[in-house]
Amino acid sequence: MRAPVLAVEELTKIYRLTDWRAAKKEIRATDGITFQLYRGQTLSIVGESGSGKSSLAKQLVGIEPPTSGRILINNQDLAKVARKERRKAFQKIRMVFQNPHSSLNPHARIGATLEEPLKINSKLDSKQRRELVAEVLKKVGLRAEHTQRFPHMFSGGQQQRIAIARALILDPEVIVADEPLSALDVSVQAQILNLLMRLQEELELSYVFISHDLGVVEHISDQVLVMYRGQMMEYGEVDQIFDAPKHPYTRKLLSSTPSYRNTVKILKKTHTREFKDKAAVSSGCPFAARCPYAKQQCIESRPEVHNIDGQLVSCHWPLESNAEG
Ligand SMILES: Nc1ncnc2c1ncn2[C@@H]1O[C@H](COP(=O)(O)OP(=O)(O)O)[C@@H](O)[C@H]1O
Ligand code: SF4
Ligand SMILES: [Mg+2]
Repeated sequence: MRAPVLAVEELTKIYRLTDWRAAKKEIRATDGITFQLYRGQTLSIVGESGSGKSSLAKQLVGIEPPTSGRILINNQDLAKVARKERRKAFQKIRMVFQNPHSSLNPHARIGATLEEPLKINSKLDSKQRRELVAEVLKKVGLRAEHTQRFPHMFSGGQQQRIAIARALILDPEVIVADEPLSALDVSVQAQILNLLMRLQEELELSYVFISHDLGVVEHISDQVLVMYRGQMMEYGEVDQIFDAPKHPYTRKLLSSTPSYRNTVKILKKTHTREFKDKAAVSSGCPFAARCPYAKQQCIESRPEVHNIDGQLVSCHWPLESNAEG
């Protein structure tokens, strides 16, 4: 069997906060996330705001250390890499942020921004660095003379192209893109998406793609992982998730998207206030307070993961493909 380029095992990030009453609070931003990403493929992460997508992205690229769990690139455990090899290991996995404007240094010319990772991580001399920068700028649809300009002299779409060039400059295998289109004008979103798709094909890149645009996710993904409150709710091939979602939360997400509203229906059963209150603080299923199918067992115990033809569903009672409300 082919090996994944990126394997994530039980990735957990706990933030421990102390509020103004000196009460201790624990936030599990990611809670036992596991997935595998293969060469040249796209895994999309979806879930509403606060579900832990950005936290996951930051752990993948080394911005934040996980509390527990493992990240393996080409079977190499990133936590076990010797200190001096660490930078090299993280060259293989780079990030593109949501907002190119704030992710680029406003005081540095584009050439300097793109050369900086090369100065730190390569032995290239300045002529070689400039040549490589020109080559990568061309790949993202910009020109060598753009190196002399500052970020504010570019449009939002061009700035995101520069951010993509910066992610590519060290020849990575995996790009983690956290909502890379959502800060851009609708008119340029398709251009940047097409650029990402073309680069994936040309360079055999693998993408972890975070987005709330389910139309885009369905269009570009091989696999989809649905998160809620830090946990994996459902994970499978894109067709499994969109054609036959088996987790109530996935159905809810799809049913709130206009293009799926007519095909995916969800029960509107409401629970008593007392049930909802108990569910909200339970250590059972995180979705219990909002789930129309919730029963007492959902409050009492965390669901095991069901594997249905490779589609993983974290629910006590995975839905039938044709279940409707
Ligand atoms: N640095 C941090 N300190 C404390 N809590 C954080 C921090 N970063 C994220 N969180 C919390 O972790 C949860 C997941 O956040 P995030 O990963 O940004 O979600 P998403 O990207 O899906 O909107 C949220 O409850 C958020 O408030
Ligand atoms: S475990 Fe229960 S509450 Fe959670 S999604 Fe399944 S049916 Fe709903
Ligand atoms: Mg986010």
